[in-house]
Amino acid sequence: MITGRAKLAGVIGWPVSHSRSPLLHNFWLARHGIDGAYVPLAVPPERFAEALCGLRAAGFVGANITIPHKEIAYRHCDTLDASALRVGAVNTLVFSESGIVGSNTDGYGFLANLAAYGVKPGGPSLILGAGGAARAIIASLMAEGAKVTVTNRTRGRAEALAEALPGLAVLDWQEREAALADQALLVNTTSLGMRGHAALQFDLSQAAPTLAVADIVYAPLETPLLADAQARGLVVVPGLGMLLHQAVPGFAAWFGVRPVVDAEVFAAVTGPEQATLPA
Ligand code: ATR
Repeated sequence: MITGRAKLAGVIGWPVSHSRSPLLHNFWLARHGIDGAYVPLAVPPERFAEALCGLRAAGFVGANITIPHKEIAYRHCDTLDASALRVGAVNTLVFSESGIVGSNTDGYGFLANLAAYGVKPGGPSLILGAGGAARAIIASLMAEGAKVTVTNRTRGRAEALAEALPGLAVLDWQEREAALADQALLVNTTSLGMRGHAALQFDLSQAAPTLAVADIVYAPLETPLLADAQARGLVVVPGLGMLLHQAVPGFAAWFGVRPVVDAEVFAAVTGPEQATLPA
């Protein structure tokens, strides 16, 4: 039920129609009987600043930020937490009396999802891809003490990441399989394997039997990379949980309840498609 006192939040993106965040947050709002709503906000880049002002003027409690606004939103924040500063981009805004507080919960979501599948961060990790999500994931793994190597088709982007994150090693894309034997964790952050995209070409035959393979692609829920890892008996960490966990801190800040990620939540955002749930 939405009354005249409902708390309002939403996700700002362009486009935004593919976002599963409204399904997720409105599921949690209903579960907890909270008087609130979470809506998709399709905002083109040139109107982002205007939209942000409008949402604050209209009394929204905050917003999630998705592609392509994460960097520009960072520049509109009055306060940035450590996660935002590490990444240089935000995905969660809290509107307060004193201004806009920005954070980046992607790294938190990634680590929380690893934990849900029983994977401890901290071991040597190989990251495929050097986009925005890669930076959040790498920074969170390095903060856990992991020795991280990044490899990207365009080597310059990987090198730029290494400049921003001292201690990060860079590997040529052609060499991506050579370093596998020494890794505890492999993470795909590229768009390869996503529905409508080519599959990632990655030979897992040199993997240690204890390797955990994580993919941030969640459509399909089981990417070709994860299917291959599963068939080899490796530990598999599907990407949907990262999306669900990254939403927790924002919901808690806006609506005052810390929600949990469980099987019902997976079902609410996947619909008829069956999620691979943590054991
Ligand atoms: P962002 O996360 O910043 O939006 P993106 O353009 O969506 O970035 O791409 C995400 C990642 O997928 C990038 O690392 C990209 O590699 P490039 O930096 O070389 O573009 C990677 N990627 C996309 N298509 C790829 C392909 N066919 N082969 C290898 N990597 C690919």
